[in-house]
Amino acid sequence: MRMVDLIEKKRDGADLTKEEIEFIIQGYTNDEIPDYQMSAFAMAVFFQDMTPQERASLTMAMVESGDQIDLSKIEGIKVDKHSTGGVGDKTTIALAPLVAAVGVPVAKMSGRGLGHTGGTIDKLEAIPGFHVEIDTSEFSELVNKNKLAVIGQTANLTPADKKLYGLRDVTATVNSIPLIASSIMSKKIASGADAIVLDVKTGSGAFMKELEKSKELAEAMVEIGNNLGRQTMAIISDMNQPLGFSVGNALEVKEAIEMLKGNGPDDLLELCLTLGSYMVFLAKQATSIEEARTKLQEVIANGAAIEKLKTFIAAQGGDPTVVDDTNKLPSASYEIPIKATESGYISKIVADKIGLAAMTLGAGRATKESVIDLAVGIILHKKIGDQVKEGEAIATLHSNSENVDTVIELVQGSFTIVQEPINPPTLIYNSIS
Ligand code: URA
Repeated sequence: MRMVDLIEKKRDGADLTKEEIEFIIQGYTNDEIPDYQMSAFAMAVFFQDMTPQERASLTMAMVESGDQIDLSKIEGIKVDKHSTGGVGDKTTIALAPLVAAVGVPVAKMSGRGLGHTGGTIDKLEAIPGFHVEIDTSEFSELVNKNKLAVIGQTANLTPADKKLYGLRDVTATVNSIPLIASSIMSKKIASGADAIVLDVKTGSGAFMKELEKSKELAEAMVEIGNNLGRQTMAIISDMNQPLGFSVGNALEVKEAIEMLKGNGPDDLLELCLTLGSYMVFLAKQATSIEEARTKLQEVIANGAAIEKLKTFIAAQGGDPTVVDDTNKLPSASYEIPIKATESGYISKIVADKIGLAAMTLGAGRATKESVIDLAVGIILHKKIGDQVKEGEAIATLHSNSENVDTVIELVQGSFTIVQEPINPPTLIYNSIS
């Protein structure tokens, strides 16, 4: 087989076999296929697309390029959740203990974040003492005992994807549905999940800005998962404004804790109940989505979900008393209110700008080497559709510096106030299974 012939075949719109795709991915991972040939191949895929069979073969070839996590020692059906990411997305912190409290084993491999705030691990590390440095046997034991554990990502998960993603980033080939879908699904499948629930975000603060494209991506990922024997479901959820009110690591942990105590916010709760219902259903802990939702509501109401969070924190070295007293979480030195410049209704909160503002305060990483400040961030006081009076606080910065003029400008500039009443945006647009 010669790479040049396979590039030509794809360029001319023909379908590649499983063996041909394996040849490409193995050759690229082993440095036998150079970047320039792989770039040409990625561009051919960008223009010619891939069949469902090709997408499944590409995903599996990337899974097989590195370590595959063996979760077989964990009892029950392991359901993973993946979000394509957004501003204020603290869903995993609330959702993991919520579904674990219903009996779903949650064996979560998570990463650190690059961008507006930290990733799930960074957020969890805002809890004093909490750590994810546990070995795989302890990880399995903890999930069997408590139904929930979180571990850091192994370095050698889908190396082919890592290399290809870096190449796509500099060859204008990131934005290709077959390449994005196989990239995301390869990581989920290599992480050992039996079933997968996907939260594909759409809107100004999302990786996919347009609803149609988000739908296409969700459908592509569901098809790959199902073709590879992992039951997969997806929702498309709104990211035209941050999720919940808090953006920033400790602030987001606090909001997730409040949600598990039954204190909202409504959008975070609804998202967790929707994603959680699918997880509980796929894990066969309920016979219908409706029954699953009722079970989730029960564990919030009877305190089992918040108790599960405490058990999980303590098992991984953290201080579980932060759950009862969230003042024990890191807090910033200054709270700086940002006021509305006119009266009216909030019609827009550009999530990207709020994310950038939080990152500027120190909540996120500009580069992999950046050190993040777990205490800082932004609390919104208004969401789209809310009425506001001139001079009323629309947000509060939690900062460790008083010198925040650019951040104030960013936050103020992310809000649009209009005179006509506005309907809040839809939170969940579609479900795909
Ligand atoms: N996220 C991924 O993991 N891969 C992509 O290709 C795009 C977003």
